[in-house]
Amino acid sequence: MANYRVETLDGGFPYINIEGTVARNDTELFRAVSNISKGHASFIVNLTGLESADKEFYDHLNNVSSRSKLKVVSNNSTVSNYCLSMGLKIFPSIKSAQLSFAGDETIKMLLSKLRDVPILSNDAYKLVSYTNDVNANYEELEKMIKDNPGLVSQILRIANSSFFYRNQKITVLSQALVTIGLTHLRRLFEFNFYHSVMGIFGAQKELIDHGKQCAVVAEYIAKQAGASKADLSKIWLAGLLHDVGGQALAFFFPEKYNVARNFVKEQKMPTYLGELVTFGTEHQSVGKILANKWNFPEYLQNIVGDHHYLQIVDGKKLTLPVFCANTYLNNRDGLPAPSYKEKLVEYFQLMNKEMKWENPDDELIKAFESEGPSF
Ligand SMILES: [Fe+2]
Ligand SMILES: [Fe+2]
Repeated sequence: MANYRVETLDGGFPYINIEGTVARNDTELFRAVSNISKGHASFIVNLTGLESADKEFYDHLNNVSSRSKLKVVSNNSTVSNYCLSMGLKIFPSIKSAQLSFAGDETIKMLLSKLRDVPILSNDAYKLVSYTNDVNANYEELEKMIKDNPGLVSQILRIANSSFFYRNQKITVLSQALVTIGLTHLRRLFEFNFYHSVMGIFGAQKELIDHGKQCAVVAEYIAKQAGASKADLSKIWLAGLLHDVGGQALAFFFPEKYNVARNFVKEQKMPTYLGELVTFGTEHQSVGKILANKWNFPEYLQNIVGDHHYLQIVDGKKLTLPVFCANTYLNNRDGLPAPSYKEKLVEYFQLMNKEMKWENPDDELIKAFESEGPSF
């Protein structure tokens, strides 16, 4: 029979600690778990001291989890895998499980605030997708753009800028599109899309620039590793948008976000850890919720939601360059961040290329050398 203890932790969190071996006929324990679940929407189950348990015990946890959210604390991989396979949340410590209660609350508040956020215009993203299509042509593009006076005048202005110097002024949209060319047009639409997202959260210039620089460096890394054109475009867009969750947190919870910001500075810790301590959640989780709400493609949702943790194995060909670029920029800007060199080597290996840079910091500065038209 197992030993168990039911208590309420500081902050009012319901908690049960289970130790030893749980048998299938341990009805007293099963009843105790059921009773907690009846009175609480969520509770912590500490299985750190669990030695072994019959399948019936896990089945019971699974049943209970249909009415009350379980936060399981465990460091044992067998126990953790069992719980994960049932969709239960695992935490490495009681503290992190406690913190996640605050995170649930933050997400709940965020979701209710998001109801008032305008639905992101599909048109902006449609143009990005269209210019990524191999069959994209100017005629079709003109049809998509001609009824948008703001965009038409932006395109005419760019076509007449010094970058595309022409003897005669361009006054017709079709001519302007051909002059700028599909590559630059795609970039323009991506910037427009990015600005429309950032505009919703009133992002400051410094943060907007961080996204732009991340896109430039991530694309440079991917280019050097031989990424396909289609992947380069995905990586670029993900570089722009990777921190969108941070913008949302700062916009909806400005005072609390300042606390997190100061905490990060004082403790010299990565931003997402400061957010985690303050909000119980961090900008990757928040970003993923947003990316999902706005129907961003799956790859983009994954990069926004995993650019620090790198837990999603499948998407690493796209996430790693964004991770390296973001970490390089954080290091450059004196923000606490891990080393990115190991991950850079991993990325090149994944791309079957040798990473020859002795000092990647010196190499990545070059990413900013090529100048395009200013949008
Ligand atoms: Fe980030
Ligand atoms: Fe970032």
